[in-house]
Amino acid sequence: MAVQVRGMGHALPDKVLNNFDLEQMVETNDEWIVERTGIKERRIADSNTATSDLCFEAARMALERAGVEAEELDLIIVATVTPDMMFPSTACIIQQRLGASKAAAFDLSAGCTGFIYGVTVAERFLSAPDCRYALIVGADVLSRITDFTDRNTCILFGDGAGAAVIGKGSTPGILSSYLGADGSGADLLYLPAGGSRIPVSHETIEKKLHFVRMHGNEIFRFASKIMVEICEKLLSRAELDYNDVDVFVPHQANLRIIKTAMKRMNIPPEKTLINIDQFGNMSAASIPVALSMAYEEGLLKDGQLILAAAFGAGLTYGGILFRWGRN
Ligand code: ACO
Repeated sequence: MAVQVRGMGHALPDKVLNNFDLEQMVETNDEWIVERTGIKERRIADSNTATSDLCFEAARMALERAGVEAEELDLIIVATVTPDMMFPSTACIIQQRLGASKAAAFDLSAGCTGFIYGVTVAERFLSAPDCRYALIVGADVLSRITDFTDRNTCILFGDGAGAAVIGKGSTPGILSSYLGADGSGADLLYLPAGGSRIPVSHETIEKKLHFVRMHGNEIFRFASKIMVEICEKLLSRAELDYNDVDVFVPHQANLRIIKTAMKRMNIPPEKTLINIDQFGNMSAASIPVALSMAYEEGLLKDGQLILAAAFGAGLTYGGILFRWGRN
């Protein structure tokens, strides 16, 4: 059995926050942000837009492009660290809005690796004979948990959602996948308050514990190393090498991390999808948004080999290697 990516979609808020806007908010400048991260602007959801709203739009686009009805879905996974609420899951909220009445639905927390984790879990789920289609949405509204007085983090993040419908087909689709985690890095990127350890209180708000805390340098070092390891593992499992890769879709956390990975693997810029300049780090949404937009621009051709790799809060990491196209 082959599991193929049958359609992709994305949704982005209209509001653009560029580096010059940030210059008015914190002590930073466009030159520093572009040079150190590659980011020029990012999208920010308005106060009426929650994660499920972006998920719903991205999912509808993916279903339409896949030619699959919502009622045909067997599973919905939303990968997010910014769900609408702690519970119910954002996946259940969009299950109802889409009318995907027979789909099981749950959220998955793997930070920026969430979409990769979701596709991998869903692929295994589809090995059951009675399951045909799964919807995976990577979505985050990180602006809601970002401290816009902290220049170390507020320059990095953006909001968005990307979705994929995967299903069974006859020609090869997903060739290999790889997931990993290193919980010893849990304190490198985390949201202190709002869970059972530190419930929300006046004190947590005063201390700004409802905002992301990040040790950027350590994550940078981890990411630069792990990206290549993920890609090597994926390719060797499929008995392929870097020369076979047509499209490389790295997680978009920092352009310098992406360039280091490209250099070590000898993957040229024309084979690499980059959207960090326009959208910043959209966490679980970065990879599916890049793929959905590349499809829209006619950049993806049937049979092309696509290599996607990510790392994120947890720390988590992982990748998928697949051929584009369906039948
Ligand atoms: N503007 C101007 N100066 C700044 C800014 C800013 N926005 N931010 C930091 N600086 C200053 C620092 O204060 C420091 O000054 P000092 O030397 O006087 O102390 C100097 O710039 C260098 O700071 P560094 O932190 O060393 O800068 P670095 O080049 O490492 O870049 C960055 C920081 C961009 C955060 C980088 O480490 C990075 O991208 N890390 C990876 C982060 C990441 O991937 N996070 C997401 C993980 S995925 C997920 O799950 C969401």
